[in-house]
Formats: sequence, C-alpha cells, structure tokens
Amino acid sequence: MSSDAAEQDWRADFPLFAAQPQLAYFDQAATGQYPQPVITALDTYMRSQNAPLHRGLYKLAYNATEQFEAVRTQVAQFINAAAAAQVIFTSGATAALNLIALAFGPQHVTADSEIIVSVAEHHSNFLPWQRLAQQTGAKLLVAPITANGAIDEDWVLAHINQHTAIVALAHETNVSGAHLQQAPAIAAAVHACGGYFVLDGAQAIGHQAVDVQALDCDFYVFSGHKIYGPSGTGCLYGRSELLEQMPPLTLGGGMVDTVSVTKATWAELPWRLEAGSQNALGVIGLGAAISYLQPRRPAFTAHTAALTQQLRAALANIPDVQIYSAPDACATVSFNVQGVHAHDLATFLDEQNVAIRAGDHCAQPLMHDLCVSAVARATLGAYTTVADCQRLVAAVQAARDFFLGGEAQ
Ligand SMILES: Cc1ncc(COP(=O)(O)O)c(C=O)c1O
Repeated sequence: MSSDAAEQDWRADFPLFAAQPQLAYFDQAATGQYPQPVITALDTYMRSQNAPLHRGLYKLAYNATEQFEAVRTQVAQFINAAAAAQVIFTSGATAALNLIALAFGPQHVTADSEIIVSVAEHHSNFLPWQRLAQQTGAKLLVAPITANGAIDEDWVLAHINQHTAIVALAHETNVSGAHLQQAPAIAAAVHACGGYFVLDGAQAIGHQAVDVQALDCDFYVFSGHKIYGPSGTGCLYGRSELLEQMPPLTLGGGMVDTVSVTKATWAELPWRLEAGSQNALGVIGLGAAISYLQPRRPAFTAHTAALTQQLRAALANIPDVQIYSAPDACATVSFNVQGVHAHDLATFLDEQNVAIRAGDHCAQPLMHDLCVSAVARATLGAYTTVADCQRLVAAVQAARDFFLGGEAQ
C-alpha cells in the first residue's frame, strides 16, 4: 500500500487520535470523528455565544440566531438548494425520512399507489415506507441489487409507472458503498408519472458534491455526524411547493404564527417544520463541519478511494474472505471471513485496537438477500492511514488463522 503525503496532516486534524494513538478507526459510516475546527466551534459557542434562538430581544440571542440561520444558508449552498427555506433542520437522516413519510406520504399515497425502495436501504429509508404502504394499502416494490452490490437502477426504471407515488433510494448504500448512477433519469421517469423522488444522502454527501437541482430530487436528507459534525443534527431538503404542503407533525413553540384558545395558524417555512427549541449547538457544529469538509472533500474522497481499493484487494487475498462491497466503493469494504461470525471477527480485531463495524448494519432485508446474518464492515475517513489499513489486513489474517487454523481453504 502506498502512502499519501497529506494523510498525516489530515489525521492530525482529529484530536481523538492524539488521545487514542493506538486506534485504527474504521467506522466512519456509522459516525465520524470530530476535526479540531468543529470542536473549536462547539467550544466557542458554549463558552461565549450560547443563547435561545429566535426569541431573545438582546444581542446575545440575536447573534446566536444569526449564526444558526447562517448555517441554513450554508447548507443550502452546500447542496445547491435554491433557497435557505428549503432546508429543515432535523435530528438526522432518520428523522428527516420519517417526516417525509409521515407528513408528505399520506397526502400522495393511496391504495392504488406503488412505492419503490431497494433491498439495500438502511432501515431508516425502508421502514417508514413499509409502514406507509401498510397503512394506505399501497404496494411496496423492492428493487434488487446487481452482482456488484449496487441498486439495480434499470430494475427501478423498468418498474416506474403511472401508479408510482414515491421512489426512495440511497444515494450511496451503507453496506456496499455503491453510488446511485442514474438519479436524474430516475427523477425524470418518476416525475413523468406524477410521483416523487426521495434520496437518502446519509453516506453519499461525505464523499461527493451534491447538487439537489441537478439530481432533480424532490427530497434529500443527510446526517451531520457522518460528515464530521455533531450527532443529533441533520437536514431535510425539499422542493418548496412540497414542503408547503406538509402539515407540521410536531406542534409547539417556534412554529406558530397565531394561537387562540380555538385555533392556530402556522409560521412560514422553514420554522413551521421545526417545533420546539432547536439544537443550536449542534447546528453551529454542523456549519463548522461543512466548512471543514467542503473544500477538502475531493481530496478526502480521492484518498479514501485509493486506500479502499488497496484494502479491498489485500483482504480479498486472504483465504476464506468474501467481499460484499461494490468494486468502486470509495470508502467502504464489507466482508466476511467464511466460517467466522462477523461479531467474533470484530471482537478479535478490537483486541488489536482495530475498530470495525459488524452486524446487520440496519439493513436486514439486504442480509436476507445475501443469505448472511451479519457482515463485517470497514469504512474509511479522511484520517485513515496506510498503516491503519495494514493493521486491519494483518488482524483479519490473524483472526482467520486463529478461528479456522489449518482448515481447508
Ligand atoms: C444510508 C443511511 N441512511 C440513513 C441512515 C440513518 O442515519 P442517522 O442514524 O444518522 O439518522 C444511515 C446511518 O447509518 C445510513 O447509512
């Protein structure tokens, strides 16, 4: 494996590795580590800028609100949304997807409708649609994956018809790391049939530039903690006219215009869909994370993609290793050592301070499809080094030898 000159600098951006010098962290897809600029922004806000949002009539509160709303504008630019009001802050991708399914879904899905998802969806982009289908009597169509682990987009295109109300797909899947290639074509097809296109960008947005207008999606969601920002933050982007139609699911402070004892009227977007005190600290951190990631993302992705290729090849060379991730995944290697449970493998690796994820990855339909109960997954971040990958490969080899010994290959 070849070393990248910049990798040590990037790793130095993440104080966790100074505190945990022995750790090889391969779980970025589950949650990312914090770079110093995000920690500094959180620290500064807590020490000197904290105040209630949208309500205070004093400078501290006014400035906190300005900062919070500036992040909304920043997110809009980050994903090329036409207006900041199209960005709704949520607690994450899960909350955003549930909001779409619960508030938008019932208005557009009937017993006559079809909803298309894929078998590779994270539960967060599967269960809300499964329940919506069950509640409305709509049909849930589940697209298969190709031999390369990608969502079969041709299958999706072939199944869009006049009944298609919603197509909801991962922009990048969390187990195989495959990227959706034909989003604009899928959008065009579903729009031609009067349906709507939802993209789950939880994994993709950390690796590629996202332009919601070019993608032509109706909704796009992502989480802050997978892009080096705080957990408990996320965004829902929606077309303005569709967000306008969405009734607020959560009622309370901050989302009303007028309230009397008999009736209430709602505030305008985006605040109508953000009831209650918002996660000001988290959103400030999200803004810092985007500022950190955006200019570096092409270099980070080139770095992780090169390492991912090398890691994949090295793991595939180990006897009994089966790879599940897509050949062109840019930060994900999913695999199993046949005959060794993924949990045992992960526990063995942890003894050597190599942290990987093992389990169903909130993708049980995919596990059924792959005929496995669990998969080991190594996901890479900006801070991942060649040395980390070498340690992972050596540890998997050692685990294989420990659990399987001299068994036939
Ligand atoms: C593709 C995908 N979608 C949605 C989610 C849910 O994200 P969160 O738990 O941050 O809401 C994840 C989390 O791993 C994911 O990988």
